Amino acid sequence: MEPAQMERTPFADLDRQPREMTAMLLAALETMGRHPEIRRVRRTAMDALHPADGWRVLDAGSGAGDVARWIATEVGPTGEVIALDYSAATIAAAIERHDGSNVRYTTGDVSSIDLPSASVDGVWCERVLQHVEDADRAIAELVRVTRPGGRVCLIDTDWSSLAFDGVPARLAGTVVADMHGRLTPKQVDMGRTLRRRLVGLGLEDISATPVTCVFGDPASAAVVLPMVNPMVPEQAWRSAPGVREKWFAQVDEAGARGDFLAILTIWVVAGTTGSKA
Ligand SMILES: C[S@@+](CC[C@H](N)C(=O)[O-])C[C@H]1O[C@@H](n2cnc3c(N)ncnc32)[C@H](O)[C@@H]1O
Repeated sequence: MEPAQMERTPFADLDRQPREMTAMLLAALETMGRHPEIRRVRRTAMDALHPADGWRVLDAGSGAGDVARWIATEVGPTGEVIALDYSAATIAAAIERHDGSNVRYTTGDVSSIDLPSASVDGVWCERVLQHVEDADRAIAELVRVTRPGGRVCLIDTDWSSLAFDGVPARLAGTVVADMHGRLTPKQVDMGRTLRRRLVGLGLEDISATPVTCVFGDPASAAVVLPMVNPMVPEQAWRSAPGVREKWFAQVDEAGARGDFLAILTIWVVAGTTGSKA
């Protein structure tokens, strides 16, 4: 494997993962989508996108397609959602979950979108840009396919905001550092950079909302944070021998005491494409 690929997360190319890993990650995406904190992030994003009846919306990096189907209910029967994902296995899984709503599923790369310029009214791109090689190029593509006056809504994690309490700070720091560039992206600050990137592209009416997710027990945190999820295979860790076991012992103890805490900020940044975009 090339060194550059080793630094990329499994989500950068799901089809090249072992089949069990892809299945586990897809199941994890669905569980995440039901988590109250992720739902809070998504409600904030839907308010920021504010799709109207009849809109054609691109969900770029659509995963299992649950958000695409939700947007389809927002745009009504005259609207349409294009659910685009790089991974053929993911698109196949999304099609299996199709509920008859007005969603068209397609494989494709957010960095080179096979759609004409100005062909959609709005874009939703959730927790994708942290996994791509060149986020600016991808965002420029999202802006290109959006009509003037349309809305681009980007949602991404700020992994550098991740903090714990109830567990030894130094051990938490070691685990988090070991995960960056492996299970969490090397680009740890994607969320906070989104506003700057949209400003640079000349979008207007930009809103940037940090949604700080709070996880008050290990089970709740494990849904969103891979380093708290005991189901993540041991081979996926690159910590020194013994660190993983020591960490989970501390996490379990904090959970039993009731004082475990984890926080993570996910940014919702949206802008309107104007004459300059
Ligand atoms: C963390 S998942 C998020 C999925 C979905 N947006 C959600 O929030 O549930 C990242 C998704 O982005 C997709 N992805 C990664 N790189 C991509 C690219 N270059 N173009 C399109 N999709 C990509 C992955 O296949 C995966 O489905």
